[in-house]
Amino acid sequence: MKVVAINSSPRKNKGFTANILRPFLEGIREGNADIDLFYTKDLTINYCLSCYQCWTKTPGKCSQKDDMAAILPKLRNADVWVFASPIYCDGITGSMKTLIDRLIPLMKPFTELRDGRCRHPMREDVKPGKVVYVSSAAWWKMENFDPMIKYFKAFCNNFNREFAGALLRPHSVALVPLRKESVIDDINTAAKKAGNQIITQGKISQEFLSTISQELMPQDSYVDVINKGWET
Ligand SMILES: Cc1cc2nc3c(=O)[nH]c(=O)nc-3n(C[C@H](O)[C@H](O)[C@H](O)COP(=O)(O)O)c2cc1C
Repeated sequence: MKVVAINSSPRKNKGFTANILRPFLEGIREGNADIDLFYTKDLTINYCLSCYQCWTKTPGKCSQKDDMAAILPKLRNADVWVFASPIYCDGITGSMKTLIDRLIPLMKPFTELRDGRCRHPMREDVKPGKVVYVSSAAWWKMENFDPMIKYFKAFCNNFNREFAGALLRPHSVALVPLRKESVIDDINTAAKKAGNQIITQGKISQEFLSTISQELMPQDSYVDVINKGWET
């Protein structure tokens, strides 16, 4: 099994998103899958030019010469695509969206009807597979992730992949004062087991997802914690 993980937090491996992604990938590795991990911060990825050369002149090949040339072949061969992005202004980061826009060489230009909706067929050299979304957000409620869950489900319909679940860490800043508490071990263990499960069973159980997203402190206490943090 091959997994491509893309983390678009500029804080890379030191960020809150990585706090969830890291044990998840550990579990994937223990499930005997190969992982390619990319940080968008380390990559040069230009905006899509909408030139459509990847659909006309050079089918499947983008006209631009940048780091997407290394990522597209990896994604073509991967069973699982993991998109890890913090919530930025109620969306994914700009760098993640730029990367996703550059995935259209994986599709054919034609439109077909799938489940009664217009879609592009994927190219034959793109292995079908799953998508996992990993995210963290500073605000307290799980509802902060709703627009992005909807987005990644729509993305999966568009790219003809299965949405296999989302590992979500709300009120992420609470991970700092609680870093020595056993609840953090519980979250890490659940993320690791989720990684193992996606490889060995092809799905992630709700029990692990709920443990990862569990409430860490009441909302009003959390507001005090983050405001005190900004004061200092
Ligand atoms: C530009 C920017 C916009 C943000 N917008 C939101 C937001 O809309 N909702 C939210 O809950 N957190 C928001 N945050 C906070 C991050 O989502 C949160 O701190 C996250 O855990 C950071 O993950 P990281 O450490 O992996 O980068 C924003 C942070 C930045 C820098």
